[in-house]
Amino acid sequence: MTHQQLVEKLRGQLSDYRFNHCLRVEQTAMALAAENGVDITQAGIAGLLHDYAKEKSDAAFKAMIAKHQLDPELLAYGNNIWHGEVGQYFISEELGVTDPEILSAIAHHTSGAAQMSTLDKIIFVADYVEPGRDYPGAAAARASVAAGLDAAVAYELDHTLIHLIDKQQRVYPAMFAAYNQYGIKQEEH
Ligand SMILES: [Fe+2]
Ligand SMILES: [Fe+2]
Repeated sequence: MTHQQLVEKLRGQLSDYRFNHCLRVEQTAMALAAENGVDITQAGIAGLLHDYAKEKSDAAFKAMIAKHQLDPELLAYGNNIWHGEVGQYFISEELGVTDPEILSAIAHHTSGAAQMSTLDKIIFVADYVEPGRDYPGAAAARASVAAGLDAAVAYELDHTLIHLIDKQQRVYPAMFAAYNQYGIKQEEH
């Protein structure tokens, strides 16, 4: 599929609000890719498509989990985890995007993972700091990017985890693993 065809497919899946967010994540991811020596086209596609499955129904996700015999533990989570971890299957099946590096970055974009490639980190961060984001602390998150990609990943893991615990929400285990790898102080590595 051409870039324009992917854009149109994405537009057909999402509200205007989320579609525009995806376009901003695409641009942010491409800029971070240029700064970090990652393929810009790959980062752009991953950024563009990262939320492709976000507005799929719960029933559609559960059917995809069953179809691919994915870890049944996924059923204990919801859309926030599914649209990445399970969303990658919709992207490969419906859009024909099968580059494992792109799919990995999309799979891990909300939780992070114990081992993250530079592209994984770029999409994780781009989603959090794209210029339309206006949550409390967004400015500080953007400032963390100036200290480098790893600093931004650490900032995002720390603050997302604190937020989830503050709300007494379930934490996907990959996020704890990501925190232990990338969220702790550098000197403790
Ligand atoms: Fe997302
Ligand atoms: Fe997003």
